[in-house]
Amino acid sequence: MSPSDVSTTVHPLALVSDIAVRLASGDDVVTRTTDALEHLISALGAREAGLWLYGANGLVCSLRAGDDTVSAEEVAALLDAGGGGHDTLAVRRLVAGPRRLGALALRTSAPLGSDALLAFGTVANILAPELSRADQLRKLEGEIERRTRQLDDEKRFTDQIVDSLPVGLYVIDREYRVQAWNRKRETGMQGISREQALGRTIFEILHRAPAENLRREFDEVFRTGRMQQFTIESRASGEPRAYRITKLPMRMGDSAITHVITIGEDVTDWTQAQDRFAQSEKLAAIGQLAAGVMHEVNNPLATISACAESLGLRLDDLRAAGVDVPSQSDEFLRIIDAEVQRCKRIVDGLLDFSRPRSADKAPAAINDVVEQAVFLVKHHSRFRKLQLQTRLDPDVPPVMANAEQLIQVLMALMINAADAMPDEGTITLRTRRGISEPEAVIAEVIDEGQGIARADLARIFEPFFTTKAPGRGTGLGLSICYGIITEHGGRIEVDSAEGAGSTFRILLPGNPQA
Ligand SMILES: Nc1ncnc2c1ncn2[C@@H]1O[C@H](COP(=O)(O)OP(=O)(O)O)[C@@H](O)[C@H]1O
Ligand SMILES: [Mg+2]
Repeated sequence: MSPSDVSTTVHPLALVSDIAVRLASGDDVVTRTTDALEHLISALGAREAGLWLYGANGLVCSLRAGDDTVSAEEVAALLDAGGGGHDTLAVRRLVAGPRRLGALALRTSAPLGSDALLAFGTVANILAPELSRADQLRKLEGEIERRTRQLDDEKRFTDQIVDSLPVGLYVIDREYRVQAWNRKRETGMQGISREQALGRTIFEILHRAPAENLRREFDEVFRTGRMQQFTIESRASGEPRAYRITKLPMRMGDSAITHVITIGEDVTDWTQAQDRFAQSEKLAAIGQLAAGVMHEVNNPLATISACAESLGLRLDDLRAAGVDVPSQSDEFLRIIDAEVQRCKRIVDGLLDFSRPRSADKAPAAINDVVEQAVFLVKHHSRFRKLQLQTRLDPDVPPVMANAEQLIQVLMALMINAADAMPDEGTITLRTRRGISEPEAVIAEVIDEGQGIARADLARIFEPFFTTKAPGRGTGLGLSICYGIITEHGGRIEVDSAEGAGSTFRILLPGNPQA
């Protein structure tokens, strides 16, 4: 030790190990460094000392403010000159492996001896990797935070997409445990909250089919890797609705299937529209066929009628000439005529169905039409035991229609209603506004009768379809109604189930000119 050394009260090695211990304990690296260097400074017995940390781009922080700051240039110059320092100023590079982190500078009021420089160097050496680690950690933490935020955003984004889909969607894993459950699934068919569903097996939650069957459906996808699709009918929401179920295989990474995605889509409206379309297509085809046949039938009927008439005249001539004509002949001619007339009526009915004569139309009030139709059937013997009631909305817009044809339609519907209620009951005629312009006017005939079997529903508008005893029904009523309403630009539909009564509904466009 040189005589100019500041006398340290402790042994240099003890000082260094003391500083090393202080540097190693505690959380924050800056606090630890400051603490260790304070110890060094007090060991040096310096009255005044400054301590600064430099990074690659200059001063990072002043660990201890001194009288006289060391400039970054001064530090750089000293380091270029081989480091070290002089008398009262010491500078040490902070190096961690290949990385140059910066430098540590110390200026004291007392000159620094070799012990002090050794201790200072030790602090710098221990500090460097610590700082490097802390720096990397900070960077890493920043990166993790950024990535986490990004992932959160991405997840929120995909969650939002999945939740916005108008279909129910859930995902199960290999153990049949629910891993995703979207918003629609919470409100949909069975209304189970996401919290309730996540993590539980699907068999605990879904009861539309026995667990065995459900398991088979999922296993099929796991095994074959092929999409499965089928339609089910559910009454979970009260009324019967049709759902198209799609099961899709999902792979996380490698080729093995890890999950199955199930999508449930309410296709009730679509199915109904499809059925309606198929129905009107079919009726249009039948109509065309019928029209063609009827024209063919009309001519021979006219011929038969004409021949029968001239035969009648011949018989008169023969009688006038005194010939004994069998009396039965007149009877036969009368039967021929009556049957021809009957055929004509059927032909006319069919023609009405296939292409109703587009009769003159005028603005009409549907409520008046209903009242007139009710008036016409009320006194009929078939309605004696029945109640007829009307519920008419005074605000229904007018329609452009042939009132007589509409009356004909309503009467046909009321007669059918009466036939469906052999003993007693109430027939209600109701009018109301529709929700859209092309179906602005709605008239319904509601009965409490036997209802219509599911299998028959698709056929009742076909000409000649009847479930009534021969002689009682021709099967033409509804087909003619269908033709007339279609010709008016409207639609006729029915709600019915066996034993539950029937509602026949006519939907007509409103008339903007009226
Ligand atoms: N209100 C109703 N209630 C029950 N069944 C009905 C009703 N209206 C129509 N139907 C069924 O539709 C069939 C066809 O009706 P329609 O075309 O009027 O012919 P028809 O009355 O001559 O049988 C009927 O035979 C009956 O089975
Ligand atoms: Mg009928």
